[in-house]
Amino acid sequence: MEVKPLTTEEIRLIRSETAGTLGRIHFNNAGASLPPDVVVQTMVDFLREEALLGGYEIEAKYRAQLDHTHELIAQLVNANRNEIALVENASAAWDIAFNGLTFQPGDELIVSEMEYISNILGLLNAQKQYSVVIKVISNDAAGNFPLTELEAAITDRTRLIAVTHIPSTAGNVLPVAAIGEIARKHNILYLLDACQSVGQVPVDVQAIGCDMMAVTGRKYLRGPRGSGFLYVRREIQDTLKVLFFDGRTISSVNQQDFVVRADARRFEWYEKNPAIVLGLQKAVEYLLNIGIDRVWQRVQHLSTLFRQRLQAIEGIEVHDQGDVLGGIVTFSATGMTAKDVRAKLATKNINVHLGLANSTLYYMNRKGLDGIVRASIHYYNTEEEIDRVCQELAGMA
Ligand SMILES: Cc1ncc(COP(=O)(O)O)c(C=O)c1O
Repeated sequence: MEVKPLTTEEIRLIRSETAGTLGRIHFNNAGASLPPDVVVQTMVDFLREEALLGGYEIEAKYRAQLDHTHELIAQLVNANRNEIALVENASAAWDIAFNGLTFQPGDELIVSEMEYISNILGLLNAQKQYSVVIKVISNDAAGNFPLTELEAAITDRTRLIAVTHIPSTAGNVLPVAAIGEIARKHNILYLLDACQSVGQVPVDVQAIGCDMMAVTGRKYLRGPRGSGFLYVRREIQDTLKVLFFDGRTISSVNQQDFVVRADARRFEWYEKNPAIVLGLQKAVEYLLNIGIDRVWQRVQHLSTLFRQRLQAIEGIEVHDQGDVLGGIVTFSATGMTAKDVRAKLATKNINVHLGLANSTLYYMNRKGLDGIVRASIHYYNTEEEIDRVCQELAGMA
């Protein structure tokens, strides 16, 4: 299907609806993206009304609208609304899914080398608690995830495949649908960290074939901080342990027993900040109106241009490798620490971030990287901003 590129006029409009683009160049979308104004306004309006009306009273008034959030998220990732739980962030989502599994000593978990620190800590904790075996699949020399190695690592003790769609500190996109095919062929559970991908790349849980997926709201979705969601495929919901309970986890209860509710909301706390839920909903709505295919096309266009420009600057080394690269651009500058580069750019109102060695431990250790500059692009960024950033970097180098 042909994708219609976002026009200059559309980008201008989108930027005029994003107050943060006025005074700064924001290349830290992988940290937290700039939200559209409507996301902020929705939350502010709700909080004002809440202060006047009362928390429970306003919640009752907005009940149907709040509930619509699960529906819209399901639409975005091609799931069912009953498969979505709203949580605070991607780490919470991943933890709820992963710790809901039951492991036996000797069970094998296969992961990519691109896992984020939260996931690595969960894995190490399971190693301590259950004596599971962790097998890490490294990228090949071209920076691609080696599917044949994944398949070769599977044994009759393999209990889980857990990979990250787009890592925190590198530009490559993992072939998650091909990984899903392998998981299905061998009947192995598949947990996907889509923290950096939902909102950047089309994500279709049916096409990918994952059983569980962890997502955050504040990054490429452009939603509020403190928002995120967990997808759990209907057929496996009953096989996951429920880790925490409140009165809405269950469909019925008596003094002897209870029945857990029949959807993924069993995995979320009932008590949450409704302003954040509405903010997330607006962000998803905003994205659906633009179209994720168009977003992904522009992210690829801008980040390809950015990498080309960076590679032409003497003293800059771009680290991203792989056949498919997205909006997370990582590099080092000779003679300067990543921290220095970030600080210097900040004085010019340019936001970039650091990729710390710990944050993607397996990958950074293997590559011998102890910290990189991460400049992450989204669709609302522009060619002119790329020029400006490269000019500044050339001046420093
Ligand atoms: C790939 C990846 N997974 C998981 C996380 C954790 O997300 P959160 O901070 O929303 O818990 C991050 C955060 O940067 C990430 O980049």
